[in-house]
Amino acid sequence: MDLKIDISKEAKREEKYLSLLPQLDALYAAESDFIANLANTSSVLQDTFGFLWTGFYLWKENELVLGPFQGPIACTRIQSGRGVCGTSFQEMKTIIVGNVDDFPGHIVCSPLSKSEIVLPLMVENKAIGVLDIDSQELNFFDELDQKYLEEIIVKLLKYSKL
Ligand code: SME
Repeated sequence: MDLKIDISKEAKREEKYLSLLPQLDALYAAESDFIANLANTSSVLQDTFGFLWTGFYLWKENELVLGPFQGPIACTRIQSGRGVCGTSFQEMKTIIVGNVDDFPGHIVCSPLSKSEIVLPLMVENKAIGVLDIDSQELNFFDELDQKYLEEIIVKLLKYSKL
């Protein structure tokens, strides 16, 4: 298969998501391995949008453990309920933080991170991990990112063998 993802760098953010969705369908349809799909998803998102950090934490033996990611080295283990990732996981909901300094208990992996969005990976009403994306800009993420990133997660989980 053609592994290229083709997104115009000049496109607006929503146009990028719209162009990405069918291309991700093709990518996931060709591969059912969960880790492989997490890895390519972090790469595609990071490449397309130029985030600071894009990656996954997976629930293993009672904590979130670092999974496939793109960007600087990161914290490897996060307890449920701790930081933005642990809170999103525990509450099983997406959290958008405009300024990480305003989020009580935010875990600083990189001092360059100013804002973030964390989305739970939901399987049969249970969270199995999170997608965490960090930006160097304040207030970088909004409901538009939430909507499309949630769509991407649904696709990823649908196509992957867990
Ligand atoms: N900022 C996150 C920790 C993970 S790193 O940013 C990669 C948090 O508070 O959950």
